Amino acid sequence: MPHPTAPLQIRPLPAELRKSTRLGAEVVLPESMTLFDPKLLSETDQQIFRTGFFDNGVLVIRDQTGIQPHVLYDIADLLDPDHLPYHSGGQKQVTDSRNILSQNNCSRIPRAPQVTVIGSGHVENYEGIGELDLQHLDQSSFHEYPLSEQEIADGLTRPYRWHMDAALYENLPGIVTSLHAIEVPKVPKQRLQFPQGEIMDVAAGATLFFSGARNFDALSPEEQEFALNTTVHYAPRAYEMIRNCKASSDGLTIENVGRETLIPDLPPFDPEKVHSFPMVWTNPSNGLPHLQIAGCCVYSLTTIDPSTGNKTVVSELAEVRRICHELQEKVYRPENVYAHSWQKGDLVIFHNRGVMHSISGQLAHFKERRLLWQCNMASSTPPKAYRQGSQ
Ligand SMILES: [Fe+2]
Repeated sequence: MPHPTAPLQIRPLPAELRKSTRLGAEVVLPESMTLFDPKLLSETDQQIFRTGFFDNGVLVIRDQTGIQPHVLYDIADLLDPDHLPYHSGGQKQVTDSRNILSQNNCSRIPRAPQVTVIGSGHVENYEGIGELDLQHLDQSSFHEYPLSEQEIADGLTRPYRWHMDAALYENLPGIVTSLHAIEVPKVPKQRLQFPQGEIMDVAAGATLFFSGARNFDALSPEEQEFALNTTVHYAPRAYEMIRNCKASSDGLTIENVGRETLIPDLPPFDPEKVHSFPMVWTNPSNGLPHLQIAGCCVYSLTTIDPSTGNKTVVSELAEVRRICHELQEKVYRPENVYAHSWQKGDLVIFHNRGVMHSISGQLAHFKERRLLWQCNMASSTPPKAYRQGSQ
């Protein structure tokens, strides 16, 4: 009798990493597979992978040096079968300097234009790209009250900007983001600073995650009810609008009103293509509610009282930001943050519609280079409201 091959396994990360995050599991590939190829998984393994992905939010597959770029978008076939054939950031990389997303100088891979090269440092003749000066963005360029030189020298860091990978205009956010580490610099660990004074040790350049499901659970019953009845309207051309804005020290919102690019000065836009989403999204596998707000890009809120149908609109920007921040800051505690410590070869696959993530660290202070591949395929289906009728 042939020996049955061991199936794919999902192993939750150790308790000291998982804490209360509800995030993080390692994928142990089936015995027959060394490099991940989602197209070669059996139906049973596909199902285990899919359930593990939506239950754990962040999956890690170690030692994947050698995978081809297409693997990053083939993953979307498994988790979002109706995805569109291009990146949620558009068919081409954003290079318009009016858009804050152009600041990292990243570039698509010519043979796989769905995949973006991101990182830190100078790159020449890599994957047919020519020259790149990759910028690892950090709090110093974006926070209203950045860390002092002394604090940085002492190893402190902060989240740059919490977000989902979402254009918030035209292309719907992908369900899954895949990241693959090509080169990882060896630099000293850092200490993540929290507003209440707590400190969490993190690897330099760790990618930070918190769960939208954990965030929803951290709310009071009244806040949950408000969130369930509320739709978030995003700013038109949000990333151009916040180009000169500065963030709060937790990276969750914009600190002050006043530096927004005014609407007449934005690139032309079609109001029909500006996104509005329910505040609470349904996990497509386990049905749990996830609070999902791109806090730096909010513009107005509409809340519908389910018993009367009455609508309340909040459109004063400072108040919109304050309300959203009050909900999201409840989850930003060390016990709720998973910080992925990158190793060369890592393939990290996360539920972009179920978690928030952020860059951390100050890699620009070091000469060693970091190279990652990133892919988030645009979806054809909008996020599903947890409470129908909230949108
Ligand atoms: Fe991102």
